[in-house]
Amino acid sequence: MFKAVLFDLDGVITDTAEYHYRAWKKLGEELGISIDREFNERLKGVSREDSLRLILEHGRRGADFSAEEFAALAKKKNDNYVQMIEEVSPRDVYPGILELLKTLKAHEVKIALASASKNGPSLLDKMALTDYFDAIADPAKVAQGKPAPDIFELAAKEVGVAITESIGIEDAQAGIAAIKASGALPIGVGQAEDLGDDIALVTTTAALTYEYLLEKWQEKHE
Ligand code: BG6
Ligand code: MG
Repeated sequence: MFKAVLFDLDGVITDTAEYHYRAWKKLGEELGISIDREFNERLKGVSREDSLRLILEHGRRGADFSAEEFAALAKKKNDNYVQMIEEVSPRDVYPGILELLKTLKAHEVKIALASASKNGPSLLDKMALTDYFDAIADPAKVAQGKPAPDIFELAAKEVGVAITESIGIEDAQAGIAAIKASGALPIGVGQAEDLGDDIALVTTTAALTYEYLLEKWQEKHE
C-alpha cells in the first residue's frame, strides 16, 4: 500500500499553471519572443530560471543578457505572476482535491508538496490548504529541478516514506519524467498527447479519488 502522495501544485491543485503561462507570454512579448501553448508544455514544471533559459534559447537570445539582466527578467516575470495570484482563495482549489486530501489524512497517508515553485507555500496559505501538508519540499534546497527526480525524493524523505512507497501527481512533462526517475508511481493530470500513454492519466482532478489511487497502486503491484 502507498504511504505518501507527493503533489505538484501548479496545474494539479489549482489553475496557476495558466497564470505562469500568461506571465511568461507577456515577458516574451516584451522581448519579441513568441510563446504559444505548445511551447509552454516544455515550460510546465520547470523552475523559474530554467524556464527563462528555455525561452531565451527559443528566441535565439540566449547570449544577449548579462547575469544581472537575466535576474531582472526573472524578477519581472515573478512580480507580474505574484500580482496575478493575489486574489487566489479556497474557491480556486481544483475539484476533488480537498476531498482527496481529507481522505488521505483519514487513511494516515502522508501528504507532501513537490512543487518547483517558490510561491508554493504562499499559494497553499491562500487556498487554506497548508494544514493538510505534512511537508513542503523546498525547491531552493535541491540540486536539480524537474525533470530531475530531486524534489520528489526530497518530499518523500521529509515525510519519512520511501520514494518507492509513494505516488506522485503531476500535470507537466518535466514533472512526469521526474516522478518516473524517482521511482514513485506517476499519475498524470492531462492528455496522453502531452504526458504520454504509458502512465495512469486523469483528464480532470475530480477523478483523483482515494479509490482511483488505490486501484492504480494495486494494478502496478499485482
Ligand atoms: C512550477 C510551474 O510549479 O513552478 C512552473 O509549473 C514555474 O511554470 C515553476 O516556472 C517555478 O515557479 P516560481 O513560482 O518559483 O517562479
Ligand atoms: Mg504543474
